[in-house]
Amino acid sequence: MSQGLVTMSYIAATILFILSLSGLSHQETARRGNLYGMLGMAIAIVATIMSDAVNSYVVIILALLIGGAIGSQAAKMVEMTQMPELVAIMHSLVGMAAVLVGYANFIDPAATLTGVEKSIHEVEIYLGILIGAVTFSGSVIAFGKLSGRISGSPVLLPGRHWLNLGLLVASIWLCLQFLESAETGGGTWALILMTIIALAFGVHMVMAIGGADMPVVVSMLNSYSGWAAAATGFMLSNDLLIVTGALVGSSGAILSYIMCRAMNRHFLSVIAGGFGTESGGEAAVVEGEVSPIEPTETANLLLDARNIMIIPGYGMAVAQAQHTVNELTKLLRDKGKNVRFAIHPVAGRMPGHMNVLLAEAKVPYDIVYEMDEINDDFPNVDVSIVIGANDIVNPSALDDPNSPIAGMPVIECWKGGTTIVLKRSMASGYAGVGNPLFVMDNTRMLFGDANDSLQEVLKILKS
Ligand code: TAP
Repeated sequence: MSQGLVTMSYIAATILFILSLSGLSHQETARRGNLYGMLGMAIAIVATIMSDAVNSYVVIILALLIGGAIGSQAAKMVEMTQMPELVAIMHSLVGMAAVLVGYANFIDPAATLTGVEKSIHEVEIYLGILIGAVTFSGSVIAFGKLSGRISGSPVLLPGRHWLNLGLLVASIWLCLQFLESAETGGGTWALILMTIIALAFGVHMVMAIGGADMPVVVSMLNSYSGWAAAATGFMLSNDLLIVTGALVGSSGAILSYIMCRAMNRHFLSVIAGGFGTESGGEAAVVEGEVSPIEPTETANLLLDARNIMIIPGYGMAVAQAQHTVNELTKLLRDKGKNVRFAIHPVAGRMPGHMNVLLAEAKVPYDIVYEMDEINDDFPNVDVSIVIGANDIVNPSALDDPNSPIAGMPVIECWKGGTTIVLKRSMASGYAGVGNPLFVMDNTRMLFGDANDSLQEVLKILKS
């Protein structure tokens, strides 16, 4: 393929990626956004394979077959609840690729660059490996935390901020050493030492982050993986990879910012680690009487209500209750009830988790509201149904300054009439914090698997 055609294809792919991102920002256009993305990626792969940069089709096709087989198998096997872990491990692969490409570039015997060009290329290699290594080890730890293989509680080393600062200074010093030694064909030791430091920093950064702040880390690693890809693009002189990496990097950074705002956290405090764990006092212990409820009484309360709010959380994903939720919503709306959904920005385990599940079950978009849009409306709500949510409806975030989730905005369902909480036990949520909502006077607990409980309620309502 001629260079002109390759460039044209890269421009087309870039436009499709931008259209894809804009499509993905609304539920109604998300499917189209996905299609644009797939088309753009297909064009990008074909154009790259056909370009002069590739000299062995056999190796490329073999790599495509192996990678494609692993990818499609993983996509088939993964449960919806394991999606966040899959995303985290995928980010780690991008990081690893940047590290490997960096080293391959460094030892490339065919490299012919000289003077300033050579120095710029060396900086690209250094930064590519640095970002890649942080992304790799950080994502592996995030995978461990999200899958429960590593404890969600923060591991706080004494003087950790100084440690981080020391690692940063060491990386800058090593960069200067690397550039100096690389002039004379050396520098391997500096590169290897920096890689070890970057790997250690990635581990330290994510280990220090507490459970409830994980959403910010997930989106931040998403952003890092984009910058790692852009760095790879610089090293390989591939414009499309630079553009794509920058798109992922900047959209991930915007998402991290949105997540921070949603959680009322400062970005720097979160990445410096251990935010929300330094309040000094002990979080209050939850005490009080729990008032259980049966499906029959739940159905009666719903029949008597006019305004009903559904608040889904991670437990809805575990129970795969979204289709039953949709059926219940349809039935209640047919009976003239005003049914709406309140979605917390970090409900579930990945950004937009609840929206994806509700869209899958075909719940109409126009009755699904973001927390900020709906929180003031709770005094008008007769019955709220909390489906497998816990941290996102925890009042202690607002009134216990010692709580690990203090300051995080939550859905204030207790300001409405009756709140019915569907969960299996009194166990705490992801952040490991007790929830005073469960013992409030106007809260009733419907114990059991959320899907089973809702099926029961549905059966009673239909009969
Ligand atoms: P959680 O606070 O984790 O609470 C989920 C609740 O669902 C649990 O208390 C559990 O109680 C219940 N549950 C589990 N399986 C169930 C089932 N089959 N049927 C009924 N209930 C079930 O979830 P949340 O309220 O959605 O809050 C999200 C948390 O995850 C926040 O702390 C957030 O910071 C964190 N997080 C979010 C993200 C993103 S990006 N969204 C990423 C990482 C972490 P039982 O065991 O008693 O049933």
